[in-house]
Amino acid sequence: MKKILITGGAGYIGSHTAVELLKAGYEPVILDDFSNSQSSVIDRLAEIIGKDVICYEGDCNDKSILEKVYSEHKFVGVIHFAAFKAVGESTIEPLKYYRNNVGSLIVLLDFMKEKGIKNIVFSSSCTVYGQPDKLPVTESTPRKDAESPYGNTKKICEDILVDFVKSKAGVKVISLRYFNPVGAHPSGKIGELPNGTPNNLVPYVTQTAAGIREKITVFGDDYDTEDGSCIRDFIHVMDLADAHVKALSYLNEQDDDFYDVFNVGTGNGNTVLEIIKTFEKVNRIKLNYAIGPRRVGDVVKIWADTKKINTVLGWHPKYTLEDSLRDSWNWQKNLIK
Ligand code: UD1
Repeated sequence: MKKILITGGAGYIGSHTAVELLKAGYEPVILDDFSNSQSSVIDRLAEIIGKDVICYEGDCNDKSILEKVYSEHKFVGVIHFAAFKAVGESTIEPLKYYRNNVGSLIVLLDFMKEKGIKNIVFSSSCTVYGQPDKLPVTESTPRKDAESPYGNTKKICEDILVDFVKSKAGVKVISLRYFNPVGAHPSGKIGELPNGTPNNLVPYVTQTAAGIREKITVFGDDYDTEDGSCIRDFIHVMDLADAHVKALSYLNEQDDDFYDVFNVGTGNGNTVLEIIKTFEKVNRIKLNYAIGPRRVGDVVKIWADTKKINTVLGWHPKYTLEDSLRDSWNWQKNLIK
């Protein structure tokens, strides 16, 4: 079985991708520093896949850990998830974000070049578009100045990858620009596990439904949208995981020094209030919510044009918004049992 290094493989998107990789015939090799994930995820992953998971604890800024992993498992590709992602925190501790998010990519690319490891899929974000002038956004929609150091690290990493490929390092790269990942594995064994108070919408919704939070605040209902709340493109994490598998297979078919970028979203926008109402409906639960002020730095509306990933990678989402919100709740219920 071909081995693939998954940095940040114990995290939300990484753990789901590990499951999908194995299904597609690859052996995932996880490297995670557990700074924003728990080691119990590895046991639950093993339950889902029915065998032990190869996992190392360490920071991918540390070349010696990459050496150790590679000496024991000759991986042929990398999916690089490991990064910090709290937008607010990144404005308070920008260096922490640049050091971790940008630094680890540089260490990793250096290592790949040295060992002749050809393929890497990079976790980028729709945050690189800022508030686009035209919707939906295609991959050629101009990127805007980042609103936060976090967003800037994604832009900088994309630029580093482009320059690296141009330098003829022999590496092939796909950047995936994720829209808003939601949902959980249908088994309810793995899902999103935020540390402390969630910043993101759906974990806040599920924790409110579970009684951990008293109420959810909708950040603004006076925007220029159907119901006044912001619009996002919510994509089931299993579909997102599948996009990584398709990206890897596609990279295998390409010549050296290849770079491309794909949006990963559903192509549909939903408002924050629609999320709350759909969650209530599919799970037959009343959510305690209130309208509050706008959150500083929020994009008003964004959703993906997905033609490129549909046609080039042959990737199409299989899960609906209802599936996502049911699976998120199923996961949350398992957490409080
Ligand atoms: C943003 C970035 C995304 C990045 C992510 C990292 C954009 C478009 N998206 O996601 O690229 O990877 O941060 O965390 O820049 N909301 C509430 N109440 C809450 C929480 C959220 O109303 O308690 C609203 C927000 O105001 C927003 C929507 O829900 O309108 C989604 O918010 P969130 O889940 O934080 O994701 P983004 O801000 O879209």
